[in-house]
Amino acid sequence: MRVIIKKDYKEISQEASRIIKNLVNKKSDTTLGLATGSTPLELYKELVRLNKDKEISFCNVKTFNLDEYYGINSSHPQSYRYYMKTNLFDHIDINQNNTFIPKGDLNVKEVAQYCQLYEKTIIEAGGIDLQILGIGGDGHIAFNEPGSSFKSRTRLVALDKQTIQDNSRFFTDIKEVPRFAISMGIGTILEAKEILFLATGKNKAEIVAKALEGPITSIVPASILQLHPKITILIDHQAASCLKRYSHYQFIQEAEQEIGTPLF
Ligand code: F6R
Repeated sequence: MRVIIKKDYKEISQEASRIIKNLVNKKSDTTLGLATGSTPLELYKELVRLNKDKEISFCNVKTFNLDEYYGINSSHPQSYRYYMKTNLFDHIDINQNNTFIPKGDLNVKEVAQYCQLYEKTIIEAGGIDLQILGIGGDGHIAFNEPGSSFKSRTRLVALDKQTIQDNSRFFTDIKEVPRFAISMGIGTILEAKEILFLATGKNKAEIVAKALEGPITSIVPASILQLHPKITILIDHQAASCLKRYSHYQFIQEAEQEIGTPLF
């Protein structure tokens, strides 16, 4: 694991955008795995800026989102399709036919087959080159809640009470928060060639420490990321504040700067 601790949210977002820019400039037909939520918002703003300044082009890029609420359609202002359009896709030069987000408005009988198709489409795109991840307060990645199988694939899932509570900030009433979602599985996520994990703020500190330094357990789904061979953990001082090996990570970062190549 490559752990980079930055001063604040802005610095994390800038570093994340630099990593994406370098990758896309090397491989113009990169397949990106995208997340929603509060954490990547500043990163997406930065990517829009870089695209406007012609420092990056998304013309040949494909994207796959981690998840979508189930039970709302794509024009709903809280749908993740709407989020991606308004925060990124409508402002960059991407072909929106190359942006994939699970459909949240299918009949329940259609879901299993649709999820298989989503997985197949990822494979046909050559797999995900770089997956952006955030972490939920309960340790979830995508909507793989505590107890999810490490081998899970894209499927219909139920959201935990804590996730419903956490996400109620985006809705006028907690009763409006969907109870279900379609989510890539942990097995799907682990197949990404590279992962960029982002977390910011004091309220993520304890769960980040459990995920990075605790035992690998399905009760903290993000803990499985310890097994990924090419993962960059990009966190700010506050989110890093419960890490036992905080000074070790900084020491290794200095070594990385000295040798001039990423150390995973
Ligand atoms: C969103 C997603 C979730 C979020 C997580 C953190 O597509 O998959 O796992 O990354 O809930 O959300 P924020 O960033 O709002 O704290």
